[in-house]
Amino acid sequence: MEGIFKQLVRRLTFLFLSLVGTIILIAIILITYKEEEEKMDQIDVLDETILEWDAEKLIINNPKVTDIVMNGYYLVAESSKFMGPLAKDPSKRYSGNNLSCTNCHLNGGTLSGSASWIDILDRFPQFRGRENKIGTIEERINGCMERSMNGIKLDETSGQMKAIIAYIDWISKELNDLNSKNFKGYPAIKIPEVAVDLKIGSKIYERECLLCHAKNGEGIRYENFEKGYLYPPLWGDDSYNDGAGMHRVITAAAFIKNNMPYLQATWEKPKLTDEEAFHVAGYINSFQRPEKLNKTADFPDKKLKPVSTPYGPWSDNFSPKQHKYGPFPPIISYYKKEFGLTKTK
Ligand code: HEC
Ligand code: HEC
Repeated sequence: MEGIFKQLVRRLTFLFLSLVGTIILIAIILITYKEEEEKMDQIDVLDETILEWDAEKLIINNPKVTDIVMNGYYLVAESSKFMGPLAKDPSKRYSGNNLSCTNCHLNGGTLSGSASWIDILDRFPQFRGRENKIGTIEERINGCMERSMNGIKLDETSGQMKAIIAYIDWISKELNDLNSKNFKGYPAIKIPEVAVDLKIGSKIYERECLLCHAKNGEGIRYENFEKGYLYPPLWGDDSYNDGAGMHRVITAAAFIKNNMPYLQATWEKPKLTDEEAFHVAGYINSFQRPEKLNKTADFPDKKLKPVSTPYGPWSDNFSPKQHKYGPFPPIISYYKKEFGLTKTK
């Protein structure tokens, strides 16, 4: 009798312990899951529709889009395949790296705060300091071809040039609503008093950028490389060259502040502070990249050169290092005092 009772107690204890064990296990699983979920919440992805553009709906399967506009779209959105290193016909290889124009002019050139192309045709022709003359839209596009795309100019009367301009004209008319705020270029940042600190820049890079742009800034390619990059490179041989606007730390900081990290920041809701964007911009521009030839010819009137143009000659005696990394306020004050010029970049 006592034996049966003991056995019963043992069985019940075993059952009870198993039950408690299972409950604890479930609790642990739930807590970990919740923590993961909280981590995801911290990443705080924005409403993806702001950044993820439905090109298929807006352009590719849109019956209102004419052939020339469609060609323009493919040239800017899959540049490498249609006018760059991946073009089958070698005579059609104008851009020199595997970037697409829309890697910098986001959402097909429609996103405010990323130098949107909407309504820009009204602003051309315009005075350009880099050439010291009135420049046309064709010349402006070729500026990005020779520098951001590390390539050669498109003929101004070519089909490709006409298609790109037709595309810019079309988005200005048909997708005007996507441009929530009509900035000229990038919203300005407040220029920090300090110089770039590469150590701080490197920490920010690891925390906010490395995941997508990779350890050595080389980016991540699409599995099918025909489409170019899933995450474009920030330095090295396949990046923009040293004569590009993005190679100036103030310009790069303004782009980064208002657009990166991708899917987490916009001009309305930036993630980095002005100073963080500045340090990380200096960091990505501290590495090797393709060299633009004949840069000394840029800005025939040297006074008009942006203060953060990292290559000389300049019409001042500040060091090349200070032009590359700052601090910029002393250089800005110098131009104000000597020439009455107000410099913003
Ligand atoms: C979630 C992935 C992701 C993160 C994180 C991210 N980027 Fe990007 N970045 C992109 C994508 C994607 C593009 C191209 C956008 C397109 O084509 O629509 C891009 C474009 C760029 C460009 C312009 C194109 C080029 O290759 O030069 C720069 C500069 C840049 N990012 C810098 C940064 C910096 C600096 C950080 C960290 C503060 C950062 N990004 C964080 C995904 C990311
Ligand atoms: C590596 C980044 C990058 C790439 C790639 C790039 N651009 Fe740009 N683009 C810039 C920067 C930076 C500016 C100047 C923005 C400013 O005003 O501060 C600019 C300005 C422009 C402007 C003048 C915009 C305005 O508001 O006046 C046009 C037009 C343009 N780019 C077209 C193109 C085209 C077409 C391509 C592809 C052939 C291209 N860009 C590729 C970075 C890039």
